[in-house]
Amino acid sequence: MTTIAVLGSTNMDLVAYVEKAPQRGETVTGREFRTIPGGKGANQAISAARAGAEVTMIGAVGNDAFGLRLRDTLEHSGVDTDDLRTVEGPSGTAHIVVDDEGGNAIVVIPGANGTLDHLSPGDEGVIAAADTLLLQLEIPLAAVVAGAEAARRHGVRTVLTPSPARTLPPELLAVIDLLVPNQHEAATLTGLTDPRAAAVALLEQVPEVVVTLGAEGSLYAARDAEPLTVPAPPVTAVDSTGAGDTFVGCLAVAVGEGRPMPEALRWAAAAAALSVQRAGATASMPYRSEIDALYAS
Ligand code: RIB
Ligand code: NA
Repeated sequence: MTTIAVLGSTNMDLVAYVEKAPQRGETVTGREFRTIPGGKGANQAISAARAGAEVTMIGAVGNDAFGLRLRDTLEHSGVDTDDLRTVEGPSGTAHIVVDDEGGNAIVVIPGANGTLDHLSPGDEGVIAAADTLLLQLEIPLAAVVAGAEAARRHGVRTVLTPSPARTLPPELLAVIDLLVPNQHEAATLTGLTDPRAAAVALLEQVPEVVVTLGAEGSLYAARDAEPLTVPAPPVTAVDSTGAGDTFVGCLAVAVGEGRPMPEALRWAAAAAALSVQRAGATASMPYRSEIDALYAS
């Protein structure tokens, strides 16, 4: 069993399901509203736990009803929440519109996640005890950098999902082992829209890059090898929210278990394909047996 620490966000996702997302100035009638636990950090933690890792979540929820439910959902998925703080004020929320093609548009209000601007006593110990630290960009950058630096000090593998898209300081990329942008984030980081060119350019700063390509699968690049494209199983998308997080969580589990990268990428793609066929971020994340079954088929 591999051990994973996640330093990142927890959000309550407030999801409107609608045929087509409204344009600016337009009002449309949707079909359904759901509140589903999410946030890129919690999503990666839950997907890794369901995929079979021992997972600890370092993060913060607010002292509101959403915070209680977020903590509860993490615990029910087997994630250790001893390092999940409850802080004064609202939990993070994500305001999401999901259309009939399973695509989404998201506004995130950080809430409690915004208080995570430094590591707390004890966090470094949690990171040091892990094989892998998973990071995203929904908490203040200072904590992401501090977490990655702590991981590096202890020889813990660091995986960064650079989402939401933004440019990054070189000192952060210098302590990242594996960067997993989507095509848009890769373009933001490099100015290059071609995923292969972007991945190769990013190798100047990080040793390994996986660019996720949605339904097209993923592209893997490392300093010592030719870039490799790994397809995703063809599926009909219902809700792609959290699919990228599912992919990263499961990729970290497979790599942490010592599986070779091409195999790990296929296994993670199977997990993401399962998640897009069901509604909601954490609600749609598959368990290990389901991933194994699709992977083997
Ligand atoms: O990556 C998906 C996540 O982005 C959602 O769960 C939402 O909370 C936003 O943070
Ligand atoms: Na989903």
